Amino acid sequence: MKVSVLGAAGGIGQPLSLLLKLQLPAGSELSLYDVAPFTPGVAVDLSHIPTDVKVAGFVGDDLEAAMQGAEIVVIPAGVPRKPGMTRDDLFNMNAGIVKKLVGAGARACPNACFAIVTNPVNSTVPIAAETLKAAGVHDRRKVFGVTTLDVIRANTFVAEIAGKSTADVDVNVIGGHSGVTILPLLSSVPGVRLEQADIEKLTPRIQEAGTEVVEAKAGAGSATLSMAQAATRFTLSLVSALGGKSVTECCYVQTGDDPTSYFAQPVVLGKNGVESIPELPALSDYEQKLLGELRGVLDGNISKGIEFANAEE
Ligand code: 2OP
Repeated sequence: MKVSVLGAAGGIGQPLSLLLKLQLPAGSELSLYDVAPFTPGVAVDLSHIPTDVKVAGFVGDDLEAAMQGAEIVVIPAGVPRKPGMTRDDLFNMNAGIVKKLVGAGARACPNACFAIVTNPVNSTVPIAAETLKAAGVHDRRKVFGVTTLDVIRANTFVAEIAGKSTADVDVNVIGGHSGVTILPLLSSVPGVRLEQADIEKLTPRIQEAGTEVVEAKAGAGSATLSMAQAATRFTLSLVSALGGKSVTECCYVQTGDDPTSYFAQPVVLGKNGVESIPELPALSDYEQKLLGELRGVLDGNISKGIEFANAEE
């Protein structure tokens, strides 16, 4: 399995590359690309760790070379939030980066799975898909927004409140990956019964957990280490799935034939990416209300991405 990380020298990219070097199956290849000139150095550094994963570093014009033959491309490239910013405020900086990187991927590895971490994910995933469509190589089973950080945050916070091990908590988080579009399904966590009052406290905390990190880092960026762990979990699930072992993960994908139908929910991943999308568990009245409220925001984020991707340059 060859995995390319684009933005590999950045705040998320470096710990993500380290975790992948440690955890990818033996025999895998890890290919690191970034615009930062020291990216080959990050690769040399990682290459001294004794695991059976080969690492190579690429920079500058070698973007397509970095992705040649990749089965999975993970994209954390781009700029992070500063205090007071929403993820949507990053659109002008990051939209063009995703379009450029995925455009190169369409030429270098048109059959790869693209896992997008770059914010605003609600918009950058449609940008990635439209870019692949324009190149004639779009397969909607293979384009993902990584929303795993919302899941691992929800698992951590629920485990704390329920007095359980995090290993025994598995929360589904649906919708999108910003503010009110993040909807944790706290009424149907297997083996955990939360009071409605706790649900109404935890839901906004999970929705704003990224902002909690941005504020705590006080101008030095957003979540990097937990995001790297989340993206590693998603990438390893994709590796297992492509290898023939189906895995279910919450992620943001096109859920139907309608090209605007992006939504995060539990998805069964298989040999060709998205294998099936199971029905959602029953939602409580509170979750139904939040679902009703998030749809308009998410639709706006999706159309903004689609319009950007298709605008004349
Ligand atoms: C977060 O949720 C960086 O979007 C990322 O913290």
